[in-house]
Amino acid sequence: MGHFAAMVGVIFLLGLINLSAANRDTCDLYAAVGLSVTLPLDFDGLTNAHELKWFHNNTVVFHRKQNKLIVVKTGDISPMGSLQLKNLQFSDAGTYQADVLHPNNSIAKKWSGRLCVQGKVPKPQLTYICDFEFCTVNLNCIVTSPEGLVFSWTLGKKTLLNQTRQTWSISLSHLKGENVMCSVGNKVNRENSDVVRLTCKSPTWANLHCFTFKTMAAVLAGAGGLILLLLIIIIILCCHHKRAKTQMRLTNKVQLRMPSLNKQESGSISPDYETMHGTEDYLSPSPNECLLQQKGV
Ligand SMILES: *[C@@H]1O[C@H](CO)[C@@H](O)[C@H](O)[C@H]1NC(C)=O
Ligand SMILES: *[C@@H]1O[C@H](CO)[C@@H](O)[C@H](O)[C@H]1NC(C)=O
Ligand SMILES: *[C@@H]1O[C@H](CO)[C@@H](O)[C@H](O)[C@H]1NC(C)=O
Repeated sequence: MGHFAAMVGVIFLLGLINLSAANRDTCDLYAAVGLSVTLPLDFDGLTNAHELKWFHNNTVVFHRKQNKLIVVKTGDISPMGSLQLKNLQFSDAGTYQADVLHPNNSIAKKWSGRLCVQGKVPKPQLTYICDFEFCTVNLNCIVTSPEGLVFSWTLGKKTLLNQTRQTWSISLSHLKGENVMCSVGNKVNRENSDVVRLTCKSPTWANLHCFTFKTMAAVLAGAGGLILLLLIIIIILCCHHKRAKTQMRLTNKVQLRMPSLNKQESGSISPDYETMHGTEDYLSPSPNECLLQQKGV
């Protein structure tokens, strides 16, 4: 039970520390350098009888009491006591506080807030490198001083909400020659880079592994077609060669048979006939075989 309470206490403390850290980093108002901003006191019932004090970094910058201006260091005061700052400089940043007092010195209204003044954002320059070793396109959104800037990326027409870093790697296999744009912004300004079309050079055999199955299939289909063509050529050549060879053998046989026909005996016919028969067997299916082979492949 005691442990549990201690744990809850620690968690609560950590939460407090986190909260205060977050408060230190955030501002109630953001404004661009050179422009104007109004610090909103918005006290509806403000009269000349009230005493009004504005502080900047704990220094009084405006003080009016019983219709008398005691301090006027900066800005304009609206009828409701708001403070308007013009032509903002970086030194105008910091904490502001306003106090309104009743004539009897009791507090009528208080306001305090932190103002951050931010500069103009420079136009970023988008560069990329095709990395065939790791199969990625590495993008970089270059600005001179990236501190405190927020980056965003647009691929095609879609802004990617989860890409908020200055650099980004896209897998080459997902690349189809898209347009990419990056932008940088602070709370008051935003600038886009030029739109860049990503083109990584056509695949060579060495970096084929980077590309999608589709690309692979296309390349393999191309290679397959080439092999098929080669096969057909080889078969045709082979058939022609065979035909020429059998033609030659036939002529030879005929020439050989001439003298044997002149001789008249029983024994010598059979081997000759067998050879002839064999040759005919060999000869007759050959053209069909070639045709079949050509058609079948
Ligand atoms: C007020 O404080 C902020 C930091 O909190 C600083 O940036 C700014 O320059 C200060 N301005 C003056 C006038 O002291
Ligand atoms: C001071 O004056 C205001 C308005 O005149 C009134 O509402 C408030 O109660 C007064 N406070 C005291 C402490 O007298
Ligand atoms: C980022 O968002 C896109 C769609 O907007 C999604 O396809 C992608 O998977 C997301 N990536 C991560 C790392 O969440």
